[in-house]
Amino acid sequence: MTPETSPLERAAGYPELRYMGSKRRLLPWIYEALRDLPFETAADPFVGGGCVAYLMKAMGKSVAASDFLEFPAVLARAILADSGRTDDDALDRLLAPRPGGPGFIERTFAGVFYTPDDLRFLDRVRGNIDDLDGETPRALALAALIRSCLKKQPRGVFTVSGDLSRYDDGRRDLRLSLEEHFREQVRVFNAVPFVGDRPCSARRADAFEVDPAGLDLVYLDPPYVPRSDDNCYIKRYHFLEGLACYWRGVRIREETRVKKIEKRPTPFGSRRTALDAFDRLFHRFRESIIVLSYGSNGYPDLATLEGLLRRYKPSVTTLVRPHRYHFGTHRAVGRAVADEYLLIGR
Ligand SMILES: C[S@@+](CC[C@H](N)C(=O)[O-])C[C@H]1O[C@@H](n2cnc3c(N)ncnc32)[C@H](O)[C@@H]1O
Repeated sequence: MTPETSPLERAAGYPELRYMGSKRRLLPWIYEALRDLPFETAADPFVGGGCVAYLMKAMGKSVAASDFLEFPAVLARAILADSGRTDDDALDRLLAPRPGGPGFIERTFAGVFYTPDDLRFLDRVRGNIDDLDGETPRALALAALIRSCLKKQPRGVFTVSGDLSRYDDGRRDLRLSLEEHFREQVRVFNAVPFVGDRPCSARRADAFEVDPAGLDLVYLDPPYVPRSDDNCYIKRYHFLEGLACYWRGVRIREETRVKKIEKRPTPFGSRRTALDAFDRLFHRFRESIIVLSYGSNGYPDLATLEGLLRRYKPSVTTLVRPHRYHFGTHRAVGRAVADEYLLIGR
């Protein structure tokens, strides 16, 4: 790539993830808004699939990414890393056999997700990842494993299990073994271009624990509080969250068919707690430029959000764009046509 390549073009090297609320398709619009703002340091405390954090890195900013779930933090660590690739030697170590009987994943998820061979493969690689030296190599390998699992799971969510033949439309992603996926995804993450030259970081943290000091800008993309239904990330992605921490420090709800882990409470999960959460968020980051992504199908409405933001910011500008989220069932997709907002408080 030439030095003239725009940050947006550089950010296109980011591996797309099927993630609820991903801003991937809105990146050109978000870029237009960000590029006119004066900032060098930024936080993305609801980093999710990571595409906005990666865009800001490609814009040459120093980005602190975080999420209250472990697997988005791992993905962000892998894509914001400035060095490190999974080389052939590391891949051999990742694929090496591990002695011992059925592992945790095979015992727990037999008949729930994937084939027995896939589950054995997951135990093998997940165990070997823990033996790799260094946070970045471990994050890169885990990111490849997470993306493999997401690709092979029908609809990309872990709410469906057992006989999934009704979802089998012959797609290649459903046919490949997890080992074949993993080998491909290692290459995909190895090909993510190193962009930007400022140091970036990624960690697991609640947004309300992120230190606001020294941040020129904060990009806020909390879950859109549903007017009905739910927006629970654990319900949809519990398997990836478990994989990221190898189910250490989490409790499996044994009574559930898909072996979910306990929900993680967030004030953005309910209308009862959402208003106060927005207020605390804006107050926390009041010294920084605040850029908030929100949608017209979320609660509260735009006027309320603008009013809250004005408490802390003298100038509030709102950009609006129609958007269709490609996520969920056909019925839900129908409902997901909405206006997308970017509120910019300065
Ligand atoms: C709408 S998604 C972010 C999408 C992301 N911008 C992207 O383009 O992929 C919201 C994220 O907020 C995270 N989250 C929810 N409550 C949180 C909290 N209290 N602190 C930090 N992260 C939280 C969820 O785990 C989820 O990854």
